Amino acid sequence: MTSYQPSEAFKEEAEIQEKKYLSLIEQFSSNKLQTWAKLAKEELYWHKDFSKTFEKKDYPFFSWFEDGQTNISYNCLDIHLKDKADKTAVIFEGEPGDKISLTYQELHTQVCKTANYFKSIGLKKGDVVCIYMPLCPEAIISMQACMRIGLIHNVVFAGFSAQALRERIEDSQAKLIITANGLNRKGKVIDLLKLVREASEDLTCVEKILVHKRIAIETQLSNKEVFWQEAIPEQANDCQPVWLDAEDPSFILYTSGSTGKPKGIRHSTAGYILWTKLTSKWVFDLKDSDVYWCTADIGWITGHSYVAYGPLANGATIFIYEGAPNYPDENRFWNLIEDYGITIFYTAPTAIRAFMQWQPKGISYKLESLRLLGTVGEPINPAAWTWFYEHVGKSRCPIVDTWWQTETGGIMITTLPGIHDMKPGTAGLALPGIEAKVNEEGLLYIANPHPGLARTIHNDDKRFLDTYWSRIDGAYTAGDAASKDQDSYITIAGRIDDVINVSGHRLGTAEIESALVAHDSVSEAAVVAIPHDLKGEGIIAFTVTSADCCAEDLSEQIVKEIGALARPEKIIICRGLPKTRSGKIMRRLLKDIAKGKKPDGDISTLEDITILDELYSSCIALN
Ligand code: WT7
Repeated sequence: MTSYQPSEAFKEEAEIQEKKYLSLIEQFSSNKLQTWAKLAKEELYWHKDFSKTFEKKDYPFFSWFEDGQTNISYNCLDIHLKDKADKTAVIFEGEPGDKISLTYQELHTQVCKTANYFKSIGLKKGDVVCIYMPLCPEAIISMQACMRIGLIHNVVFAGFSAQALRERIEDSQAKLIITANGLNRKGKVIDLLKLVREASEDLTCVEKILVHKRIAIETQLSNKEVFWQEAIPEQANDCQPVWLDAEDPSFILYTSGSTGKPKGIRHSTAGYILWTKLTSKWVFDLKDSDVYWCTADIGWITGHSYVAYGPLANGATIFIYEGAPNYPDENRFWNLIEDYGITIFYTAPTAIRAFMQWQPKGISYKLESLRLLGTVGEPINPAAWTWFYEHVGKSRCPIVDTWWQTETGGIMITTLPGIHDMKPGTAGLALPGIEAKVNEEGLLYIANPHPGLARTIHNDDKRFLDTYWSRIDGAYTAGDAASKDQDSYITIAGRIDDVINVSGHRLGTAEIESALVAHDSVSEAAVVAIPHDLKGEGIIAFTVTSADCCAEDLSEQIVKEIGALARPEKIIICRGLPKTRSGKIMRRLLKDIAKGKKPDGDISTLEDITILDELYSSCIALN
């Protein structure tokens, strides 16, 4: 396999060079807990020092730095006010081209004002705030303001439907929803407030809705609703942080699993910010002069760890962009990189594949400011890796292919840009402190809980145990299959559970199936994934329906229940599903059929063989 080396120039300037790396590895192997304790003390401001570094509780629960007290917002903002008050913290460009930039001092003030508003409406430590917003400074301010006073945020990606939003508000019992009167996407305005109203109408837990006036249109508010622009500016400029116990929850973020119900992944305070701060520094090689752009939305874990928290904890300048990559044309990202002098660019393989299709001959931009590239969310095929390397990085910038999950809080596996050779399609090595392994069956697992790992599933400790800790005794299993080569480089093969990765977004087959059967005319549904050139994986749905129902209706049904990100490639309406005599759907056969392959293998347990041929013909007919 071809491998690529970082340049000597990059290596010499890197934050983590070979010597420091080997010393970290050595420290972790000679005294793991002492090393974590040392890093925690060096990296974080502690209001109260901790004495206990790590403790195992009833399996599988654990704590890090338990008797210490700190605050995430203090560690992202206040610690920089002495030296970097006037340094730019956030640069924003909206899709229409509007710009905002905030220094660390200004961001601090806005976060304090917002936290003061939260206090003024009676919110207290432990209360949940749902954030359903466009990617904009106010979204990051809202997140940081929650952290400042111990409110638990539950950010819901603004591409989710009202129904999906409702489920997440209800499960988390959010008291406040923060939204906007619209967001810009591909030249159109999406009315988020309308969706929030639809989602929360009869939910008694919701006491208030704070509405950022993002779009200059006439918007009428009800008694429960208040404009950001009216509520926030009048608040006092300072707000003392609430000192939180290291293990107090910081946020909940919903992600899909193998049942119909999304899991509210709950993260800690100290362990989470420690790991996101360290990994931002190690993997992205952050320097004071960098302008760092991660294209993820705050609705996903990447937007939490590597937009709103990790880079700010390091005092970096981050850039955020509201809109679509191909608006007004396919050069928008390249224009942004040149206009703002972006130096570090972290994005998803699906975006890279889209650019490859749009611009197969390459890009007519020099992109001279770039020095480091990164990818996340799904395996990157070597062709896309090479295109990214040559056409965006101009064969000059290292690429970090970072493997991690909502649950792991931060990056687990990657190469370090100033040290390691890169192998396209292979994520790389476990980071120092992380015991990522692959067992004989090819299951990827983490042998010991690191500080950044999720603490539980909101309201469902048992599901936390069953999902992650019951497959391999004492270890966290990630749900991915992988392999390790002779250099200990880990290649991710994909999910082993019923989770589909569409454009780097995780969707459960069961979740899509429940959306379908919620439709009056659908009696049964089975959903499988097919490989997709652009999206990585695509969704194929097999449905048993009553007479007058068409595929478009069912597609709309999914968009209504979940959101446009779950829109299937194909819906096959059929008389029945291939089931065993005991009534179990044989997904293996459906996967073959979805790929246009005649199903083979053992079908002796199948109840009605004729169904297979019918399904195969209708699937082929749709191609
Ligand atoms: C799943 C986690 C991590 C933030 C974004 C997604 C897949 C993630 C990679 C990668 C191959 C990857 C895995 C993982 N995945 N990064 N570099 N190479 N696969 O977070 O929604 O929690 O999804 O995404 O399958 O389990 P998520």
